Amino acid sequence: MRNIMENKKEVLYNTMGSVVAEGFTCKPKQFDANKPIMHFKTQLFLCDDERCSKAHKGKDVAATLREVIKELNLSKGEERIKVVRTGCFGACRFRSVANIYENTQRNGYLENNAIWLKNVHRYDKEKWIKLFKTLSNNEKLDMSEFKIVPMSEMDTYKND
Ligand code: FES
Repeated sequence: MRNIMENKKEVLYNTMGSVVAEGFTCKPKQFDANKPIMHFKTQLFLCDDERCSKAHKGKDVAATLREVIKELNLSKGEERIKVVRTGCFGACRFRSVANIYENTQRNGYLENNAIWLKNVHRYDKEKWIKLFKTLSNNEKLDMSEFKIVPMSEMDTYKND
């Protein structure tokens, strides 16, 4: 986002380059229903529901991570990483939970797609940086370092 003073009135631009409506931080002044969403290579879906939030002790982790991503210069451009808050994944026993979604329709890295990370409330800033750098460099995540949520085999619940 950038600010420009025009006729002593501050004009705000959002990350998509649109002028921001007065009183908002990113809502465009002129709505365009056909404007594409901003490209991302990777999305991190961060559970923000009750039990995961408690694990984070009420801290706004999504906002903190967005700042870390900005510091790494990964908040825009080809390698953009976007953090999205979600509701319960039904994996509360592994809280706090986050899911990695690689944009394989564009330049996402298939090897890191659909990985469910557990206990992310235990990550310190250094570990988040390592995660984001690994993702942006399209390197396979080291599962001995980034623990994942176990998932049952597909045939576990077959009725026969
Ligand atoms: S509250 Fe996060 S997985 Fe259920």
